[in-house]
Formats: sequence, C-alpha cells, structure tokens
Amino acid sequence: MQTIKWDPTLISKYNINGPRYTSYPTALSLSTDFDQGLIQGAISQSPDELSLYLHIPFCHKLCYYCGCNKVITRHQHKADTYLDALAEEMALFAPLLDSKRINQLHLGGGTPTFLTEVQLSRLMALLHKFFTINADAEISIEIDPRSCSDGKLRHLSTLGFNRVSFGVQDLDEKVQIAINRVQDTDLIRHQVQLSRELGFSSINLDLIYGLPFQQPASFAKTVDEIIRLNPHRISLFSYAHIPDRFAAQRKIDDSSLPDAPRKLELMQLAINRFVAAGYQFIGMDHFARPDDTLAKAQQAGKLQRNFQGYTTAGQDALIGLGVSSISQVSGVLWQNSKELPAYYAAINAGNLPVERGFSLNGDDKIRAALISQLICHFELDIEGFSQQWHLASFWHYFAEALEQLQPFMEDGLVEVYDGRINVTASGRLWVRSICACFDAYLTQGQQRYSKVV
Ligand SMILES: C[S@@+](CC[C@H](N)C(=O)[O-])C[C@H]1O[C@@H](n2cnc3c(N)ncnc32)[C@H](O)[C@@H]1O
Ligand code: SF4
Repeated sequence: MQTIKWDPTLISKYNINGPRYTSYPTALSLSTDFDQGLIQGAISQSPDELSLYLHIPFCHKLCYYCGCNKVITRHQHKADTYLDALAEEMALFAPLLDSKRINQLHLGGGTPTFLTEVQLSRLMALLHKFFTINADAEISIEIDPRSCSDGKLRHLSTLGFNRVSFGVQDLDEKVQIAINRVQDTDLIRHQVQLSRELGFSSINLDLIYGLPFQQPASFAKTVDEIIRLNPHRISLFSYAHIPDRFAAQRKIDDSSLPDAPRKLELMQLAINRFVAAGYQFIGMDHFARPDDTLAKAQQAGKLQRNFQGYTTAGQDALIGLGVSSISQVSGVLWQNSKELPAYYAAINAGNLPVERGFSLNGDDKIRAALISQLICHFELDIEGFSQQWHLASFWHYFAEALEQLQPFMEDGLVEVYDGRINVTASGRLWVRSICACFDAYLTQGQQRYSKVV
C-alpha cells in the first residue's frame, strides 16, 4: 500500500457528516409510502442463495455510547416473547424463501448472547425448521463478553455457529467507566482463547476510537493487546456521537471527548499498528488477516458491502428479521418497525412487521454500484463501468459529482488517469466523503449522520 499522508488540515475540508454507505440510498431514504407487494417480486428475482440477519435487541446494561437498536432489561422472559414473534415472522417469510438457500446467517443486536442456552437452541431449531441453511453456511454471532460463559460459548459451537465477534471497544479502565462498560481484559483474553480451541473459523473484535478520555498512549496499549490476541478480523469504528438521536449519549460529557485532530491521531496509530502487525486495511473500519476470506475477497475484486458492513456475500441479497432489521434484495430495501410494541402489533395481526421501504430506480442502481466499487475496492474502471451500465458518457452523467471531486484530486486523495478513478492511500481515510460526491440524496437530513472521522 502507498503511504498514508496524515494531514490534519484536511479535517476542516472533508470531515463532513456523512453516511457509512452500508447501502445506497441510505436507510434515511426509506419511506412509509412503500408497497409491500414489491417484497415477493424482489425475492423471486434474487439469487438462489441469500444472507439472513436476525436482530436480538436485548442487553443487560446500557453502554452510554451505544447507537444500536437495543432494549435494556433484566427480564429474561422478554426474550421468550420475542422468540414467539420471530417464529411468526419466519413462518410469514418461509413460503417466499421456499426455493432459496441460506449461505450466511448472522445474529446481531443488541446482544444475541443475552439469550440463554435454551433460548439459543430454540432459535436455531426455528431457523432450521423454516429455512434451508447450507451445511457449509457461515453462521456468526455478536457476543458481549460479559454476557457469555464458557458453557454458552461451547453451546454456540455445538449449535453450528462457526464465527464469533466480541465487543471490546477499549481496554482502558477510565474510558470503560465513562462509557458504563467495565469489562475485564482477562475475560476477553480467555474467551478469545476458548473460541480458538473450540475451532471457530473466524474471530472478530470490535473497537471504537473517539470515546471519552481516549488518549494516544492508553489507546496504543489497547491496540497492542488486541494484536496480541491475534483475531482474524478487527472492526475499528469511529465513535458516532449523535446525542440528539441516541439519548444515552447525553450521559457522555462532550468535554471528555477527543476533538477531530485527536480522533485522527487515534485512528492513525491504530491503522499503523494493525498494518505493521500484518493486517490488511480493508477500508474505513475493517482490518483482516491476509488469509481471511474478507481480505481474499478484496484481493479478488469481489468484496461487497451491506448493512453488516464489509462482507463476502449478501449485497443486495440480504433478508433481515426481527425488530428494526433492514433487508435489501434485488434493488428493493425495506425495514421492520424499530420499536418492539409496533413490531409485536404487526406480527399479532398476522402481517409482516415492515414499516418502510424503497425501490431503487435506474439512477439509484448506477450510483449504488459506483459507491460500492469505490468503498470496497478504491478504484473504478470508467470504460468497463460505462459499458456495464450503458452510459453514453460517464463524464456527462457524473459531471456534477466529478466537479465535487475536484478538491479531493487537488489534495492527492483521488486520481483520475488511464480511464480509472483511483482513491489513493491517503484518500482511503476520507472514502465516505469521496462517495458522498456521488450521492444524489445527501442534502436531506445530513446532520443525522455522524462525522466521517
Ligand atoms: C451490537 S454491538 C456488539 C455486540 C454486543 N452488544 C456488545 O456490545 O458487545 C455492535 C458494535 O457496534 C459498535 N457501536 C455501538 N455504538 C456505536 C457508536 N455510537 N459509534 C461507533 N460504534 C458503535 C460497538 O463497537 C459494538 O461492539
Ligand atoms: S454496545 Fe452492545 S451491549 Fe452495549 S448497549 Fe449497545 S448493543 Fe448493548
């Protein structure tokens, strides 16, 4: 990889509020004025193999930084009620997926390991009852180490889970206290080790930079400890601080947060150390060992992006079940109700709990393909792209976007030569802002996105 130029003066120019482009258009474009009849047609046109995402919203304790859709509770029986509803939702979807196979299954949250072993067994039995899951499917789960025992980890392995992702965030005690998430490094170390012994084929660890009281020296210790744990993948999220949207974030004192130059410094040290330790910088917020499937997919030009971030499959072929889940299939996006009462009300009435959606038009599909290519592979073959999408003149079609791209070119973040658009190594840090030039919807509700860095 070329060397990255860490220029803090670029912050004032490019640190916009912008999407992470897990879809294009983003979820903010989904509308209640959506014809649910489109779902069946979209699934029937989809490939034979689909990815399935299942949202488990419950957590035992609130982390103040959290931007996920979650319900904090100590009442374990709430998960039984939720599984009853999920069973109904699966039954509604099963006929639509009759001829399809599932090649990726992901349990996210909230905290899927909030479920007891019995509840996890019931959930997997339901999934096998209603859907055809490939014998070699990737079956993954997000784990809060505090909610997972050795027994539960073993149980996950016997249920067929083969990939695990642990939420770490930061190992420094002062940061952990400020975010209301104190967790012991030994516990994480132990669970990673046990996961390895149990034969999980992929272990991912989540970190966040930009949290309160994060300092380069202490964050470097966290990063070095993560490297010692030697996971297959690392997610390094930029802290999305949007207290107007996420009430719990108001418990974080703004003055304790690192400013943008400090955030860039934290990101810089993490990227430098992970790359020096042999990780491939996939892009934006992901690192993978070069022999990991994510890194290989990128090397082969086949990396994809969907609501779970970078992925090896499931772009435009993802069904989401459970409260707040988003699906995207054959150019149609839809999202379930974000609140449990509305979700339960729809299910009890025998309806799909879909609340809003969006059907991509021709222009959306072209822009979606371009943004996906840039964010996954950082380069675009203009001629090939134009042929694929029947563009008479790429330059004319994207005249406005290319004008917006001009400053990025002047700053050496993007190069256009030999019929290619190339995001340089330094430009990779700003790829969200670069993609935003091609976004036809961005002026609407931009403040609802987090800062790029
Ligand atoms: C659903 S949680 C992972 C599973 C489990 N609930 C846990 O916390 O360990 C998903 C991940 O999103 C990230 N995350 C949550 N809120 C965030 C925010 N405001 N900004 C950036 N990343 C965030 C955290 O890294 C977290 O591990
Ligand atoms: S970060 Fe994870 S455990 Fe913490 S509140 Fe969010 S979803 Fe729950």
